[in-house]
Amino acid sequence: MELSQDTKNILGLQLPTDPRWVNLAEMKLEDVLTDHAYCEQKAATSCISIIQKYSDKEELVSELAPIVTEEWGHFRLVLQELKKRNLRLGKQRKDEYVNKLLEFQKKGGHPEDRFLDQMLTMALIEARSCERFKRLSEGLEDEYMRNFYRRFMESEAGHYTLFIELAETYVDPEKVRSRWKEWLAYEAEVMNGIEVRGDRIH
Ligand SMILES: [Fe+2]
Ligand SMILES: [Fe+2]
Repeated sequence: MELSQDTKNILGLQLPTDPRWVNLAEMKLEDVLTDHAYCEQKAATSCISIIQKYSDKEELVSELAPIVTEEWGHFRLVLQELKKRNLRLGKQRKDEYVNKLLEFQKKGGHPEDRFLDQMLTMALIEARSCERFKRLSEGLEDEYMRNFYRRFMESEAGHYTLFIELAETYVDPEKVRSRWKEWLAYEAEVMNGIEVRGDRIH
């Protein structure tokens, strides 16, 4: 799969991951796997919630239904890696990154604006995960793990673009682009404000 366009898109993110992160993550790969497992699980449950909330949007429902299966498949792949290492899934930790993004979502106003923010939040989480998986797929010593993360990177790149496309299906693309810029600026602030941790995907 040729990723040049996707890679260019991910670069829409305004703050590249701190290079130290890969080294930290490499030392704590087991913790990264646990955190990653929950990210995949949350991706699947978020897609289910979106389908329930916007059941009147036919295209959204048919596009997101297979993503639920895909994200759950990702969760199972990560679970398998944990098992291979005799690790337990453990408890879910507070996701500071996602919580900060949720604070930026419009709470009131027009339903279209709330829908747009929900799509763009999903797109950003996918884009940032994709960027981090790219770092891991390029920077880890272990070839098996580099390939492992490369597959996730490719998959999440597709999800990132899908959420933007879904936004543009139901909302004026001009409006999508201008709000996306605001989200990118906000996300850079969030990334700046949270500690660089080696045991977290975000
Ligand atoms: Fe995933
Ligand atoms: Fe995803």
